[in-house]
Formats: sequence, structure tokens, C-alpha cells
Amino acid sequence: MSYVFYQGEIVKEEEVSISMRCKAFNYGLGCFEGIRAYWNDEKKQLYVFRLREHYERLLNSCKALYINIPYTVEQLCDYTLELLRKNNFKTTVYIRPVAYKGSNELFPTVYDDDNRVLIYCQPMGNFAGKDAFRVCVSSWRRISDNMIPARTKPTGGYLNSALASLEALQNGYDEAILLTDDGYVCEGPGENIFIVKNNKLITPPPSDNILEGITRDTVMRIAKEELGMEVVERSIARSELYSADEVFFSGTAMEVTSVVEVDNRKVGDGKPGKVCSQIKEQFFGLTTDNNPKYSHFCTPVY
Ligand SMILES: Cc1ncc(COP(=O)(O)O)c(C=O)c1O
Repeated sequence: MSYVFYQGEIVKEEEVSISMRCKAFNYGLGCFEGIRAYWNDEKKQLYVFRLREHYERLLNSCKALYINIPYTVEQLCDYTLELLRKNNFKTTVYIRPVAYKGSNELFPTVYDDDNRVLIYCQPMGNFAGKDAFRVCVSSWRRISDNMIPARTKPTGGYLNSALASLEALQNGYDEAILLTDDGYVCEGPGENIFIVKNNKLITPPPSDNILEGITRDTVMRIAKEELGMEVVERSIARSELYSADEVFFSGTAMEVTSVVEVDNRKVGDGKPGKVCSQIKEQFFGLTTDNNPKYSHFCTPVY
């Protein structure tokens, strides 16, 4: 049995139901977050990674989409910790808060007062399922900021991601890379992208319609502060993917995952790269509170 958070209370999952007429279901009028809590077996402790930053981003998404929810970042953090304790998780967990328009009115207006929040969680290990991805550039372009706000996580916007992932899988690849409308490298369907060239770490800037990923920020800090690398945010041309020394993805679900082939061209020598491996190792140390310098990123649950 699973407990969820719904409208200010922690209840059994089966007690929550959503109407078929709900605007969020009919029109995708909602936004969400994806958060991980990492289980440290030695310390017998569960640590939520960068909890505050995720709820700050959720409230920014809500603001952009006119979903007015009555909770502060602190309250949402507290509810999440309470929910994890109630479910008594002793494993790495994925947490999914959703804020949405609950009204059953027929038309897709957002200017109403029926704003709802739910949070559910589930165990999640290695989501990527493999260490090295073969990817393709999608025929779908990433939705740009003037269509659906790019720095939000809008439920409806993920149709774009789903179409890109589906196309990649149907063509025999593991994942897609979406370009911006201008043809620059943007991101994966649910993850940010990095390339390494001549020992520099390069990633698209927020103005190229990316979601400003929390894992992306963590990766940039690790590269700068722990590996002493130069980190550059700039537009990336498609063909730079083919000549990069390394390519990799970052995301809460995907964590840090190496890309070894793009459009049937090997990246570097076709094996997971050294920089990606070093970042990955640091990343897992940090998410499980094994690096005191970054303890403030880890909120203990128990
Ligand atoms: C479109 C998109 N880009 C990037 C990311 C990575 O963001 P984060 O590292 O905050 O999970 C996600 C996942 O949330 C995403 O959905």
C-alpha cells in the first residue's frame, strides 16, 4: 500500500481519484517535478537530493502557468519528508509532485481557483538501464520558450518529449536529442546534454530553450570545483556532436549517462568517456552524502 500527498493531507493512494472531465487530464494544464531520494545503506539513511531547488522550480512553473497553490517551498519540503517517512522507504526513491488545474469546466482556461497538488513516490534504481546510450537527432524540434515556457515542467509539454523518444526507440536508438527551432543542440526529452571538447565542458545556455536542470547545475559544479575544468555555456551546432571527445546526458531520472554514438557515428572511441566517468563517480558520492562539502544538498529523511 502506498501513501500519497493530496490537497494538504497524506492519504492512501486508492482514496484519490481524478475526474475524467478534469482540465489537467483534458488539456495538460499542470506542471510537475521529478526529485530523487538516495538510500545510503551504510548510514541507513535516505537523503533527498536538492529538495529545496526542486520546489523552487515547481513554484516558478506554477507562477508561469497560473497555477496558484497555497504552499511555500518549506511546506512542500516538509510534506515530502513526512510522506517518505510514512511510506517507510529504505531504498532509492523517485518523488513526483504535480500541481494542476482540477476544475471540470469544459474550456482550457487557466484563470480559475481550482488548483491542486499531489505528490506520489516510488522506488527507482538505475532508470537509464545501461551505461552507454546510442542516440539520434530527432526530427521533432524542442518546444521553444514562446510556445510553452521552457523553464517550466508543464505536463502538456511532455508530448513533445514522448514523440521524440518514441521515434528514437522505433528507429533502434536508446534516446533522442532535440534541436532548437534554430537548429542548435537543445537537450534530450527528459535530460540536459553536455559535450567535452579539448578538456572543456560545453552545454547549451538557458536561452536555447533548455530546462535549467538541477543535475545540470550539479554536473557543472563538479566539473569546475572538483575536476578543475573550464565550463562553457554556449550554443552547440549539430555537427559538434559528431566531433566531440565525449557526449553525455544529465537528469534526475537519467542521472549521468554517457552517449557513445550519435546518428550512427561513434563519439570519441565509442566507449564511455573519462570525464563522464569521473563526474558520475563524484555525483553518486555527493547524492548519498558521502562528500561533506555538498552535505547541504542532501536532506535526511529519518
Ligand atoms: C526536458 C527536461 N530537460 C532536462 C531535465 C533534467 O532536469 P533535472 O536535472 O532537474 O532533473 C528534465 C528532467 O527533469 C527534463 O524533463
